[in-house]
Amino acid sequence: MAKIKTVYVCSDCGSETPNWAGKCPYCGAWNTLKELRLESGKTKASAVHQVDDAPQPKRITELDTEKEIRVSTGISELDRVLGGGAVVGSLNLVGGAPGIGKSTLLLQMCGKLHSDSVILYITGEESERQIRLRADRLQVHNENLYVFAETDMDRIAKAIEKLMPDVVILDSVQTVSDSSVQSTPGSVSQIRECTMRILRITKEKSLTVFLIGHVTKDGTLAGPKILEHMVDCVLYFEGERENSFRILRAVKNRFGSTNEIGVFEMESVGLVCVENPSEVMLSGRPENASGTCVTCALEGTRPILAEIQALVTENPRNNASRRSNGIDYNRAAMLLAVLEKRGGLPMGGSDTYINVVGGLTLEEPAADLATVLSLASSYLDRPIGAEVAAIGEVGLSGELRQVSALNQRLSEIARLGFRRCVIPSGGKEKAAEIEGLEVIKVKNISQAIAAVLGKQKGRG
Ligand SMILES: Nc1ncnc2c1ncn2[C@@H]1O[C@H](COP(=O)(O)OP(=O)(O)OP(=O)(O)O)[C@@H](O)[C@H]1O
Ligand SMILES: [Mg+2]
Repeated sequence: MAKIKTVYVCSDCGSETPNWAGKCPYCGAWNTLKELRLESGKTKASAVHQVDDAPQPKRITELDTEKEIRVSTGISELDRVLGGGAVVGSLNLVGGAPGIGKSTLLLQMCGKLHSDSVILYITGEESERQIRLRADRLQVHNENLYVFAETDMDRIAKAIEKLMPDVVILDSVQTVSDSSVQSTPGSVSQIRECTMRILRITKEKSLTVFLIGHVTKDGTLAGPKILEHMVDCVLYFEGERENSFRILRAVKNRFGSTNEIGVFEMESVGLVCVENPSEVMLSGRPENASGTCVTCALEGTRPILAEIQALVTENPRNNASRRSNGIDYNRAAMLLAVLEKRGGLPMGGSDTYINVVGGLTLEEPAADLATVLSLASSYLDRPIGAEVAAIGEVGLSGELRQVSALNQRLSEIARLGFRRCVIPSGGKEKAAEIEGLEVIKVKNISQAIAAVLGKQKGRG
């Protein structure tokens, strides 16, 4: 009989230890060691014996140079995030909060894939009937789409062997279980073992596989970190409940860039691709209000305009609160300090709130200047003209630094009808002349504030 060996696996770094401890001895994370029971059938001696006829290492120059084969998913925004379609023989993981639309996106894909592709949709969460009803709502009519409500890994592997599909969707990886592992579905050991098996099937049979994964309270994928290491692409589906926009972001992609985002809108007929995100992000912008400024972020190859809003209110109790949504909290704190020290606006005793409209997260420093201007606008209670945009990185001395792809951003700003744009002076890339767009070059934040808000006379 196979011997059962117990090891403890860290759900953060995936390393193993023979004994349980409160703290992972490798990465130092607390309370992350989970029990894993392994069947140890083979002895070391038998493993050595088998090595003789195992494949040998090859010279890199002798290896196949053919590029990966990609298939279009039929959903342009999903193709964009995957790096130009799904790669045949790849394992892709789609994570996201409950109800964000993971199943919807992948079921819609089933209706749009090439009609010759055989697709197997394995559901461990919903009944076959539920999938059928959703498919009707999303108008997915595909003769080659097979639905299988199953959670047992052996039966799933058999079904794949028998049907030989081109594309497999597993909804979700946390619900499947392998009978050889003695723990409940969703546990570290189950997720690890099941993903291993699926990975082997994917590579052996050159399938295109999409796994759906749950996220934990703090927004990371539930299960061991090793899950993200094993798969080829990790996509996160993000969005806010009160907002119908959804953003698909690649956090790992072995076949393409991780900068691209896909923008969707959730409607009753399902997710609709937003081809022109700038227009959507700016829709409903308040007119003549203080505390808002538009910037242009570069998401992969695509420039997207975003509105940054700020609210600065006096707090006489000396316990100022700072909140930031869509912009890194530490970055926002730094910008506030620079604004106080270099811009001459004393905000220390004020509550400040920053928000990027539309659920976008701006990670680029190019959004600094617009953040500073919207804070200054709210503090001074003077609106920035609706036709003004701003791009530039802010340094600790209040100086402005140039950003990459300046002209690509300026073209998008002009295309959306903006007439003035504040940019840093100097830099390698010269701003091209664009008809109808006045480019205002400034050296530091004080000059930028003076250019769009006028001379500072204090509050109000
Ligand atoms: N009849 C409907 N009309 C309009 N929108 C709907 C309808 N039914 C569901 N939705 C939308 O679809 C979303 C649920 O999508 P979906 O089931 O694909 O999410 P999910 O990420 O797979 O969730 P879970 O984590 O529960 O599996 C709902 O939050 C809602 O916005
Ligand atoms: Mg679902």
